Amino acid sequence: MKSKIIIALDFASESDAFDFLSKMKHEVEYVKVGLELFIKEGAPLLEKLSNLGYKIFLDLKLHDIPKTMEKALAQLKKFPIHFTTIHFSAGPSAFKHLSQFDYPFSTLGVTALTSLSESEVALIYGEGKSAKDLVAQMMTKAASATFPSGCICSGEEITLVRSLQKRNDFLIITPGVRFDPNQSGDQARVMHPFEALRLGANYLVIGRELTQSLDPLSTWNQWKLEYEKIFN
Ligand code: C5P
Repeated sequence: MKSKIIIALDFASESDAFDFLSKMKHEVEYVKVGLELFIKEGAPLLEKLSNLGYKIFLDLKLHDIPKTMEKALAQLKKFPIHFTTIHFSAGPSAFKHLSQFDYPFSTLGVTALTSLSESEVALIYGEGKSAKDLVAQMMTKAASATFPSGCICSGEEITLVRSLQKRNDFLIITPGVRFDPNQSGDQARVMHPFEALRLGANYLVIGRELTQSLDPLSTWNQWKLEYEKIFN
């Protein structure tokens, strides 16, 4: 299970993140460093996590003009990271521009944030537009034969992405997953994690359901039992 789950280290400081990781013993393989922790701790934290053997998803969700994103991605090449994110809404020309370059990490296009409800999607992207319409447009108008390496989408759009994306190696990473649907919090388009895997997600992002658990290791071990029953 640990090769499928990326743990979102949404903590205020490095010490909080390491406290959590020490409780998890050696169960965590992939970690996601997002805006809060990266702004606080910067690149040295990435080196420390990498030296400890963690595989890193640096989730900065770049969204800017093509040249600025080109330069930002070039700077990221010196970091020991496996994945990073750029917004599809930067537009097809930005994606075409970025596709000219090689990256030592996987580039993931952010589609419609999992926190957006259908009514918010319509409000932002136009009346009558659903999250699925938006994701379909992003797949057909912005994703090319080589770029990006994959996308971030909710569980509800996995089947659609797989049907539109013919690349077998196109990665799907799904956040907004919940074992307990009553704990959706600020996420709107949520799905059970194992359903998302069954539908074809390559990786899941799980944050607060684990990081805010009083006993994260025993929560993880319960999930593992369930996972082994379904997938082994
Ligand atoms: O705590 P929770 O499991 O909801 O955390 C989800 C993580 O995934 C957060 O770090 C959030 O920034 C990230 N994310 C997301 N939706 C996206 C892209 C990333 O929730 N579309």
